[in-house]
Amino acid sequence: MARSLLISRIGELVTNAPAGGGVPAFDFAGSAGFAAIPDAALVIEGERVAWTGPASQAPPADEFLDAAGRAVLPGFVDSHAHLVFAGERSAEFAARMAGRAYRAGGIRATVAATRAATDAELRAGLHRLAGELLRQGTTTFECKSGYGLTVADETRCVALAAELTDEVTYLGAHVVPAEFAADPDGYVDLVSGPMLDACAPWCRWADVFCEDGAFGADAARTVLTAALARGLFPRVHANQLGPGPGVRLAVELGAASADHCTFLTDADVAALASSGTVATLLPGAEFSTRQPYPDARRLLDAGATVALATDCNPGTSYTTSMPFCIALAVRDMRMTTEEAVWSATAGGARALRRTDVGYLAPGARADLVILDAPSHVHLAYRPGVPLVHAVYQSGRRLPPTSDITGGGVPGPGRCE
Ligand code: NIG
Ligand code: FE
Repeated sequence: MARSLLISRIGELVTNAPAGGGVPAFDFAGSAGFAAIPDAALVIEGERVAWTGPASQAPPADEFLDAAGRAVLPGFVDSHAHLVFAGERSAEFAARMAGRAYRAGGIRATVAATRAATDAELRAGLHRLAGELLRQGTTTFECKSGYGLTVADETRCVALAAELTDEVTYLGAHVVPAEFAADPDGYVDLVSGPMLDACAPWCRWADVFCEDGAFGADAARTVLTAALARGLFPRVHANQLGPGPGVRLAVELGAASADHCTFLTDADVAALASSGTVATLLPGAEFSTRQPYPDARRLLDAGATVALATDCNPGTSYTTSMPFCIALAVRDMRMTTEEAVWSATAGGARALRRTDVGYLAPGARADLVILDAPSHVHLAYRPGVPLVHAVYQSGRRLPPTSDITGGGVPGPGRCE
């Protein structure tokens, strides 16, 4: 029998689950809702959550951790990140801050650096960023290719990503690389044919940057339909730099997520609200490009499901910090603190069609964050402050520390 750990004296336990410890509905439409228990406890058994409820009713366990009034949240679920690349583009960022506009073409600089890098260099960069994610409370992350753009380079990017996550996304259709500038249709043939065949074994998802300067609706549909035929599920970079067909295409194809959603028509909002496609908002990109933030309130009020993700990439959003994205969403996107935390946990899980993460109730994966703060509100109230005290992934604490006591297990009321 797996050993059990009781974490008690939790100031606020964010569960995202119905009262009484039930499992949330997973219909993948609508925002199921933030939920929290004050003065709470939680029991982990092996890799799973075994019990949640008021601290006064906690059952005994093999080991005990005193949370000393701290808040405990589900581990963040980052459903949109580009982590396999070489080099960086701080000069481009500085130029933008000096007034230059963002254009999709900057991606090609990272493509050149990525092609020139060794596998070991790419792996080292990926591990560095994955470590940053984990230290900031992200226990599940998606990772896209998209900076290789040859069969060999895209294949090694997805293979490297698959070393660290099950949520690997094929993004051969990120931009048309320079060598295909005169033959964009030829590149679409490559991406929806031999490149897809080579990458598919490592991937769960396929994505297309559907935008002026990248791929139009017809090319995006061709790539995503081919990917669906090979068992990959679609997601779309949509409506980031201006209005366009990306959101409508995502809904048409039953995509798990339409990402960015910065420039939406009323019809786009209505389509998202009446579909199972999650609107994934990436405020790090607007922060770094000085674009207007997406209107989360409009989407939420219409009934769409909203996720928050980092979009970590060297061009438009070089952050791995979900707390930073939560703070931006609360301050600048008209989300409540509860909505932002739900979107960064359960919302991300829905964007990845996952039913085992993003909430804390019996049966959930024991992925959780302990904050050096009494409530989730502090994530937005104390922006830029490293509030993550401890992170558990599949029931294991990262990094290991010494404040767990074995034996002398407290029963109900022991830690009042
Ligand atoms: O999500 N939009 C397309 N891809 C990235 C930007 C990539 C880059 O500029 O390197 C994004 O913002
Ligand atoms: Fe992106």
